[in-house]
Amino acid sequence: MTKKQIKLKIKLPDTRGQEYDVLIGKDWLGSLLKLIKKQDISNIVIVTDNNIEKLYANKLLHSLKGKLGAYNVRLIIFPADEKNKNQNTVAKLQEEMFKYKCGRDTFVVSIGGGVVGDVAGYTAATYMRGIPYVQVPTTLLAMVDSSIGGKTGVNTKYGKNLVGSFYQPQAVYVDVEFLKKLSQRHLINGLVEAVKMFVTHDREMFQFVVNNYNKILDLDKKVLEKIIKRAIEINIEIIRQDEKENGERGLLNFGHTIGHAIEKLSGYKILHGEAVALGILVEAKVAELLGKLPHKAFVEIESFFCELVDIKKLKSYSIQSILKETKLDKKVRAGEVKYVLVKNLGRVCRQGGKFVHTVDEKIVKQALTLLR
Ligand SMILES: NC(=O)c1ccc[n+]([C@@H]2O[C@H](COP(=O)([O-])OP(=O)(O)OC[C@H]3O[C@@H](n4cnc5c(N)ncnc54)[C@H](O)[C@@H]3O)[C@@H](O)[C@H]2O)c1
Ligand SMILES: [Zn+2]
Repeated sequence: MTKKQIKLKIKLPDTRGQEYDVLIGKDWLGSLLKLIKKQDISNIVIVTDNNIEKLYANKLLHSLKGKLGAYNVRLIIFPADEKNKNQNTVAKLQEEMFKYKCGRDTFVVSIGGGVVGDVAGYTAATYMRGIPYVQVPTTLLAMVDSSIGGKTGVNTKYGKNLVGSFYQPQAVYVDVEFLKKLSQRHLINGLVEAVKMFVTHDREMFQFVVNNYNKILDLDKKVLEKIIKRAIEINIEIIRQDEKENGERGLLNFGHTIGHAIEKLSGYKILHGEAVALGILVEAKVAELLGKLPHKAFVEIESFFCELVDIKKLKSYSIQSILKETKLDKKVRAGEVKYVLVKNLGRVCRQGGKFVHTVDEKIVKQALTLLR
């Protein structure tokens, strides 16, 4: 670690007492080289998609080849896009690794957005029953969300993320420089997941994001690093608390009950973060209607999220179709649709030790009607 890097130590239930680092800062290559040299390996496989190949991974391949002459360093790629996050892609990547004669002495470097991270992580998790890997997230969503927590996996024709594994990386390297080439739409997509955690857990950080929105769009390094660091901390704390299986992880689903429904109804044309932003607006309104969230706090949430997403998009879907879709979500148990209810900025309802709550459908309907 260098002075300019921010280090977060991650200790999770499935790391069996072992810790790994999330390093935020630009000198990650040096840290990666050090980590690689500590391992008993001879093959390094960089996994990425065809966009990141051109933008960053080819360069990484040459750097690693130049600095790690004694190792076999390879780059394997798959076509970008959610539709390629499937078992077929994993099989193809593993086939290439077999052809390169990669054994258990192989180390995977995943560099890309959430799709790459999920595919590369699952490839590493299942290749010869698991080989070590690191995550180098290149989208804001991957930095604050998908590279954190060790969830890896792929979609099937029966639904998203239905096959996978909890498999922790050896390290996560976050460098906001990558965001320079990312579209603003994808930047906001990731920002929604970070702000979601601030709405439920950190009022001050919510205010910080609101006050610094222009700086975020201008990719101010300090501002972005502060947001990413805090979002990862909250994310990890929620996952760690869930070790007690008290359902705390459910809090990460704020905005997702309605969000998933809208995402699905749009045929995945709306980005996940955009759908969640609409979901947050609806679910915050539900909390207000239930008398949990003060009107003033709702207005603060509303005015910021309406900058992130065009609320008119909500009108594209009938209330009935949204409500119907919420009941089909894979998280629904015994027909009960659950919601995270915020009771103020930075605070959630934890009635009866529960983090997610059943809400009368009439209230959800009313919230959807009022926001149209
Ligand atoms: N594992 C988890 O816990 C978890 C959590 C949340 C989301 N996810 C998954 O993450 C995926 C979404 O991730 P995403 O939003 O990063 O999408 P993505 O990986 O599809 O990336 C979006 C697009 O941006 C490109 N891209 C990536 N980095 C770039 C950069 N720095 N500059 C320019 N272009 C770049 C990609 O090639 C792609 O075309 C979904 O599959 C979702 O299920 C997983
Ligand atoms: Zn999400």
